[in-house]
Amino acid sequence: MNTREMFAKAVDGGYAIPAFNFNNMEQLQAIIKACAETKSPVILQVSSGARKYANQTLLRYMAEGAVEYAKELGWEHPQICLHLDHGDTFELCKSCVDFGFSSVMIDGSSLPYEENIALTKKVVEYAHQYDVTVEAELGVLAGVEDDVVAEESHYTKPEEVIDFATRTGCDSLAISIGTSHGAYKFKPEQCTRDPKTGKLVPPPLAFDVLEEVEKKLPGFPIVLHGSSSVPQEYVDIINTHGGNLPDAVGIPEDQLRKAAKSAVCKINIDSDSRLAFTAAVRKVLAEKPGEFDPRKYCGPARDEMVKLYKHKIIEVLGSDGKAE
Ligand code: 13P
Repeated sequence: MNTREMFAKAVDGGYAIPAFNFNNMEQLQAIIKACAETKSPVILQVSSGARKYANQTLLRYMAEGAVEYAKELGWEHPQICLHLDHGDTFELCKSCVDFGFSSVMIDGSSLPYEENIALTKKVVEYAHQYDVTVEAELGVLAGVEDDVVAEESHYTKPEEVIDFATRTGCDSLAISIGTSHGAYKFKPEQCTRDPKTGKLVPPPLAFDVLEEVEKKLPGFPIVLHGSSSVPQEYVDIINTHGGNLPDAVGIPEDQLRKAAKSAVCKINIDSDSRLAFTAAVRKVLAEKPGEFDPRKYCGPARDEMVKLYKHKIIEVLGSDGKAE
């Protein structure tokens, strides 16, 4: 399904739909299992990096298989959307629409304003012919995600959003309020330090910008990218089992919970799943150096990701029970 109905219900109900990225079978299995067990609608996201890594044909059929897998798990009416994350050209978005995706993102946020509008409008006009919904972006998120790299963030300008949404016809809008991609969301100098643990405490999100955007576009679906929380228990497991992630820091979950209750109705989470996977794999390999069967470390990694996704759905997004 596309995102239209999912978002309308989420805005009304004060919760957010999880948008989880997947690149491999274990991630997809974990996402579907967590959503089936909690009856949460879900957006399966494929980035251009994932398409390169896993092959787009395979990913598309994996997503189709995921719907059948969900039913096998006892989820009678799965609500699953297949979405292109960070499409950067019309051609890429068109190819995903033609390929059966139900939603695409066109990210023209690095372009000058008028060019962002023109590109987004072109994608919307094409996608809507096939009932495919389109996410656009205004404002720039810092951080690194696959092919998307930006040194500095620029908050979304609330005074632009009405003009942008009206002229492009986009179905949802990703905004920049201080989240960023990856496991290093803030530089140490942007944070304070917890005197007890020595861990970084990040600055708060710009809720004033979010409120202004909501006032300008009441009820319009807003999207938050870069919303991993970088759980410190995973960072610690990684760092004590041969890894090296110094000062990795994310968005505190209470801030995301607050955002999910507002017009934010899609929250993107990728890095946390990577961390859960890596922590579990490192632990098994460190504790059992003789292990060489991938199922023996990918299996525990998958279990850890199921726990993580369920936690996000129930404690952060509030989307459990919304797709009975
Ligand atoms: P994280 O890196 O915070 O998980 O963000 C992922 C994302 O926004 C995908 O578009």
